[in-house]
Amino acid sequence: MNQPLSVVVLAAGAGTRMRSRVPKVLHPVAGRPMLGHVLAVARALEPAAIRVVYGHGGDQVIRSLDGADLHWVEQAEQLGTGDAVARALPAVPDGHQVLVLCGDTPLIRAQSLQALLREAGDGVGLLTAFPPDPTGYGRILRDADDRVRGIVEEKDADDRQRGIGEINTGVMCFPAGRLRGWLQSLSPDNAQGEYYLTDTIAMAVADGGPVAGVAAADSGEILGINNRTQLAAAERAWQRREAERLMAAGVSLLDPARLDVRGSLDCGEDCVIDVNCQFLGEVRLGRDVSVGPNCWIRDTVIGDGAVIASGCVLEGAVVASGATVGPFARLRPGTVLAHGARVGNFVETKNAQIGEGAKVNHLSYVGDAEVGADANVGAGTITCNYDGAAKHRTVIGAGAFIGSNTALVAPVRVGRDATIGAGSVIREDAPDDALTLTGIPQRTIPGWRRPGHDK
Ligand code: UD1
Ligand code: CA
Repeated sequence: MNQPLSVVVLAAGAGTRMRSRVPKVLHPVAGRPMLGHVLAVARALEPAAIRVVYGHGGDQVIRSLDGADLHWVEQAEQLGTGDAVARALPAVPDGHQVLVLCGDTPLIRAQSLQALLREAGDGVGLLTAFPPDPTGYGRILRDADDRVRGIVEEKDADDRQRGIGEINTGVMCFPAGRLRGWLQSLSPDNAQGEYYLTDTIAMAVADGGPVAGVAAADSGEILGINNRTQLAAAERAWQRREAERLMAAGVSLLDPARLDVRGSLDCGEDCVIDVNCQFLGEVRLGRDVSVGPNCWIRDTVIGDGAVIASGCVLEGAVVASGATVGPFARLRPGTVLAHGARVGNFVETKNAQIGEGAKVNHLSYVGDAEVGADANVGAGTITCNYDGAAKHRTVIGAGAFIGSNTALVAPVRVGRDATIGAGSVIREDAPDDALTLTGIPQRTIPGWRRPGHDK
């Protein structure tokens, strides 16, 4: 195909069957508005322009999508798909090939569109499919020589036509100049009183141009979303596709049906991902990473051989190779674990650099802090980073040993190889190589009785 390409995305539908105050095309699949998926595929074709026809909830749609490169076209009244395309067409030059997509088909793949454009050349083409149940779709009419003759909408079809298994996916391409003429000849003289884009196919045939009917490789990818049941089905189909992609790349999924990727997940070979994990935003795993069940991981990079045990929540973190996290750890943004560091159960970290081989194994909060290499932070240690107005930093030297249940009141520094006695409240810097402890000496009061125990 040598002509410039203009993509027109139809997204003016009200989506009544969603029963929602959110416009249909903004409902998410894999964490992204379904229209966002269609636009991503459209962009992959590198068209000269993308025009989106909006109507219902227009402002909300425009605000919700990252669309500096998009041309928005309003269709105030929904008079049909033919009318919708006609709104977008005045700005499209005659020499362009026009590709029409629907905003409610989030599973569509760029390869299918490329195949259609290739087959159609500078003529008319339509993407067809053979879904298990063709009810509701427009049916493809072919002649004895298997040439496409037209499309009949379900509501206008007779019994014989309803028996046809090949349907119109709604994806079509046309030479802009000729389409302009056909759209002018449309009439709403049909069961729905709409201007049907599909009627242009018979016009193209009558004008002598061949119409390429290309079947999609997988009828699942053209699933149009009209209600929440179909939305859920599209979500599962998307996730299955992601699971297949990961397995093909050398990742073991303990159950491919229990994985959710809402963004991009990139994995090296031999990673193992247990059940019910969710990956959001951009997540990268190196090789041989093990992720236990029930983890929630967003915008995080994890190095080779790291182990994330069950039930962890990681966001905006960097975990170096050989580090161990969890079970039940929460790494918040700005957490950086160096090689071989360990963060154990019921530990929360935020904006914290944990050095090579350092351990924070139990029940701690480490925020706005730096923990030196091989330091050991005892159970229940808390960095008191917030004084009610500002955040302050805690620095723990390499090889330091912080006794259990220590409060480190920031800003504060603990020296290299320093030891802090259990239960201390450290308000001033603790020197290198020495034991520092706070609190009153232990004493015993004989004969003391608990309140209420007096007889
Ligand atoms: C349309 C096709 C049908 C095809 C089916 C595939 C027509 C007449 N029929 O039917 O052959 O099998 O898609 O899913 O084209 N839209 C607008 N403005 C309008 C009307 C629709 O922007 O005035 C948009 C909708 O938001 C939607 C798309 O066009 O994204 C398709 O419209 P819809 O009403 O869902 O078409 P169907 O009746 O399903
Ligand atoms: Ca309709």
